[in-house]
Amino acid sequence: MKTFTIAVIPGDGVGTEIIPQGKRVLEKIGRKHDVSFAFQDFEWGSKHFFRWGKMMPDGAVDLLQSCDAIFLGAVGHPEIPDHTTLNGLLLPIRRAFDQYANVRPAVLYPGVQSPLAGRKGGDIDFVVVRENTEGEYAQVGGFVYQHQQEEVAIQTSVFTRRGTERIVRFAFELAIKRGKKKRVTSITKSNAQGYSMVLWDRTFQSVAAEFQDVETESLLVDAAAMNFIRRPESFDVVVGSNLFGDILSDISAIIVGSMGLAPSANLDPQRRFPSMFEPVHGSAPDIAGKGVVNPLATILSASMMLDHLGLEDAGREIERAAAAVLEEGKVRTPDLGGKSSTEEVSDAVLDKLG
Ligand SMILES: NC(=O)c1ccc[n+]([C@@H]2O[C@H](COP(=O)([O-])OP(=O)(O)OC[C@H]3O[C@@H](n4cnc5c(N)ncnc54)[C@H](O)[C@@H]3O)[C@@H](O)[C@H]2O)c1
Repeated sequence: MKTFTIAVIPGDGVGTEIIPQGKRVLEKIGRKHDVSFAFQDFEWGSKHFFRWGKMMPDGAVDLLQSCDAIFLGAVGHPEIPDHTTLNGLLLPIRRAFDQYANVRPAVLYPGVQSPLAGRKGGDIDFVVVRENTEGEYAQVGGFVYQHQQEEVAIQTSVFTRRGTERIVRFAFELAIKRGKKKRVTSITKSNAQGYSMVLWDRTFQSVAAEFQDVETESLLVDAAAMNFIRRPESFDVVVGSNLFGDILSDISAIIVGSMGLAPSANLDPQRRFPSMFEPVHGSAPDIAGKGVVNPLATILSASMMLDHLGLEDAGREIERAAAAVLEEGKVRTPDLGGKSSTEEVSDAVLDKLG
C-alpha cells in the first residue's frame, strides 16, 4: 500500500476546525483506494508568533521539503498585522517551493444559490489561475522617513518574462486538460501600467500562438470584475497576476455561493517541490470557535491534492460526494442558509463516500 506523507498546518482561527475534517475525508478515501496518508502536524501560526515572535521556526521550510504535499488551513489573527502573518508563513512557503500556479476553481454546484440572479447549478464553471510568486507581491520596496510626517513608501512589482510565460502556458495547458470551453482569458491593465502589463500582454500573445485551437480573450482587470458578475458562464480559464488573481478569485468564490466553497492549490507544476492545498478563505475570526465554519472548501482542496498526487479517481469521488451533499440541501452550514455544524457537513460527505 502506498503511503503519502502530508505536512499539515492548521494555522489560525477556523483553520484548526476545518483541517481535522479534511483529514477525516482523506483517511476514508485512502481506505477505499488502498493508499494511506501519514500526516505530520505542524503547529505554526499566530500562537507560535505570540510565543516565539515568528509565525514558524527557522528551518521550517526544510522540514516540509520531503513531504508529498502540504495541507494548510488558514493564517491570520486580529491582533497581528496581516502582512506579518502572510509574509511569515504563507508567502515564504509559496516562494521556497516555487509554487507559481495558484489554481482557484469556481463551480456553481446544483442546489446552491448564487447571489447572481438567474444562475443555476452548472452554469458557472471556470478556474482562476493566479501567478503566485512574483508580480505585485514580490516584496520589493521600502520606507523613507519611516513614521515621520514626510513618510514615503515604495512598493515595486516584479514581472519577469520567465514568470509570466510559465503561468500563461500553464493556463493554456489547463484549458486543454479541462476539455471544456477551451478558452483562456488574460487579465491585464496595460492601458495604465505601461511596462509590466505590456510585457504581460506580449507574453500572452506569444504563448497563445502555440495553442491555435484555444480561444483567447484579453480583459482589463476592471472590465473582468464587471464581467465576472455579468457573464460568468462565458469563462473557462482566467489567468492573472498575483494581485489581480487574488482579488478576482474572491469575486469568483462568492458568485458560486460562499467563500466556504472555494478550494485552491498552490502548485509547482514541475513537481520539484511539494505543492500546497488550502481553502481560498482566511481564518474567519468572526465565526472561529463556533463550530459553524463550512468545511467544504477544505474538503474540495483535499480533492485537488489527490488529483495532483495522481489519485484522480479518488479526488473526483470526493468532489462528487460534496456535490451530492450540496444538491440534497439537507445538511449545510449557515453561510449557505443552513443550521448544520462543521462536523455534520463532514459526516454527510463521509456518508456519501460510503
Ligand atoms: N490563505 C490565508 O490564510 C488567508 C486568506 C485570506 C485572509 N486571510 C487572513 O484571515 C483573516 C480574516 O480575513 P477576512 O475576514 O478578510 O477573510 P475570511 O476569508 O477569513 O472571511 C471573510 C468572510 O467570509 C466568511 N467565511 C470565510 N470562510 C468561511 C467558511 N469556510 N464558512 C463560512 N463562512 C466563511 C467569514 O466568516 C467572513 O465573514 C485576516 O487575518 C486575513 O489576513 C488568510
